Amino acid sequence: MALILGLESSCDDTAAALVTGDRTILAQAVVSQNDAHRPFGGVVPEIAARAHVQILPGLVQQVLGEAKVAISDVDAVAATAGPGLIGGVMVALLVAKGLALSAGKPLIAVNHLEGHALSPRLADPDLEFPYLLLLVSGGHCQILEVLGVGEYRRLATTIDDAAGEAFDKAAKLLGLGYPGGPAVEQLAKEGNPEAVPLPRPLVGSGEPHFSFAGLKAAVQRAVASGEYRPADIAASFQQAVIDCLVDRTRLAISRTDAPSLVVAGGVAANRAIRSSLEELAKETGRCFSVPPVWLCTDNAAMIAWAGSERYSAGMIDHLGAPARARWPLDPDAEKVRGAGVKA
Ligand code: KG4
Ligand code: ZN
Repeated sequence: MALILGLESSCDDTAAALVTGDRTILAQAVVSQNDAHRPFGGVVPEIAARAHVQILPGLVQQVLGEAKVAISDVDAVAATAGPGLIGGVMVALLVAKGLALSAGKPLIAVNHLEGHALSPRLADPDLEFPYLLLLVSGGHCQILEVLGVGEYRRLATTIDDAAGEAFDKAAKLLGLGYPGGPAVEQLAKEGNPEAVPLPRPLVGSGEPHFSFAGLKAAVQRAVASGEYRPADIAASFQQAVIDCLVDRTRLAISRTDAPSLVVAGGVAANRAIRSSLEELAKETGRCFSVPPVWLCTDNAAMIAWAGSERYSAGMIDHLGAPARARWPLDPDAEKVRGAGVKA
């Protein structure tokens, strides 16, 4: 059974993991840089890249030690090669190249989005291709048909902000700090989701795309009005996001024969979002799969697993594999106004 070392450093989490082809996670570690970025209210790319350089080599030693394996026991070294903050992406990719070169192991350059997209298969051995994936993270909000490893058809994307970005911006407006998603979810538990009238951008439109910029502006007005409790704003905002995700995903489901609905990416850690999409799957007669919360936010187990899926398919990369700030999963997808600006 192949043993894959996976490395991740494309945003503000530094991570390493060892995963086998039969879905055993021998060791995995994530170091969050939240404290370093919090004073700035968001990720500072330069600080992130420098922190990855300091943290990643020690994490590699840590997971090898925990799993009691040597680098010579590993079958391949996988690392995120994009998309993401380029200074950070280069750190894991270069560490992986160094390890692959010195140990004489193959390199696997993993698309971070493919890491999220295949992560449900690490957690759920019964999940087979094809499946419909709602990929919701800090930089992306897409609906994709996952046809196989490296085979994606994008049905929808956001025309402005990603869902996680909307959570982070709402959190900032509510003075909840960084990172925003978990803080908004926590506060929303104490609020009334119907207290604040907020828009549901693009709900009912003929293509299953997303838009969240107008929602952010409405949250800004609600906060400035001083009329509402912060908990009511948080709950109403979260409900508006849920209504958009459910409506858009329902339309996408009507356009595919894929038997399963799958949700992945950092925003899929949100319990209210998970249960609303599970309801939608039930209502539309689809199976439902979502990874455990820790596997939704950035980690290296999903990169090692994507590496393992690629390794089994014979997809090995050369040592000159580039680091990519942008890297769409479906290169043939039509460009949508405002989309794909951020990694
Ligand atoms: O996948 P991820 O860890 O990093 C990217 O690749 O972007 O996603 C991070 C995003 C952030 O915007 C964060 O606020 C959001 O996921 N997030 C959440 C929750 N946990 C993380 N959003 C809503 N509710 C949560 N519980
Ligand atoms: Zn991510």
